[in-house]
Amino acid sequence: MNELIAKRWSARAFSTKPVERSKLLSILEAARWAPSSKNEQPWRYIIFTKDNPVRLMEAQSVLLESNSYAKRAPILICAIARKNYSEGEKYNRLHFHDLGAANENMFLEAFNQGLIMHEMGGFDIQRAIEIFKIPDDFEVGVMIAIGHQDKHSVLPERFREKAYSPRERRSLSEIAFVGDNGKHLE
Ligand SMILES: Cc1cc2nc3c(=O)[nH]c(=O)nc-3n(C[C@H](O)[C@H](O)[C@H](O)COP(=O)(O)O)c2cc1C
Repeated sequence: MNELIAKRWSARAFSTKPVERSKLLSILEAARWAPSSKNEQPWRYIIFTKDNPVRLMEAQSVLLESNSYAKRAPILICAIARKNYSEGEKYNRLHFHDLGAANENMFLEAFNQGLIMHEMGGFDIQRAIEIFKIPDDFEVGVMIAIGHQDKHSVLPERFREKAYSPRERRSLSEIAFVGDNGKHLE
């Protein structure tokens, strides 16, 4: 398996050290090149950095307590997707699918740049819509934290166990089937 895929994980021990602009641009460039239905590229990213500490604090304020570890991250991003295709304004049922693909590209590039990243569904969506002024034709996806890895000791006790636990996955036989007869892949 590709080394980056194996290396990527949802780390939580963010350092407060700022991230170089070139690295952030490289991560966003990776999102840009993701595949999408009809090449719609429905993803949009609203970025908050230490360059504007007030806005960064506002972005931190949407996170649930369970994601408070991400408040140390020097970059928070709100990832949203346009619900309709631009051509004809028909509903694009794949808008979230494509947002996920772009986010994963970012994830891999973040690790390629020696950084860590964490996607979060746990935040106050209504508050995000208001604070970030998300237009009606967009759906809010995830909040993303990006930064340098710090020592696990910076994490409050309740997050440490998760930081050390091995990553787990369903077996291949649970997720892959041959043809249409439900036979497990051998
Ligand atoms: C769409 C999405 C939403 C997630 N939301 C949260 C979240 O709110 N809080 C959290 O701690 N982790 C969140 N995660 C991280 C997952 O728990 C993590 O990806 C999963 O446990 C697999 O671990 P790994 O990414 O380290 O392989 C989210 C991941 C995804 C893809």
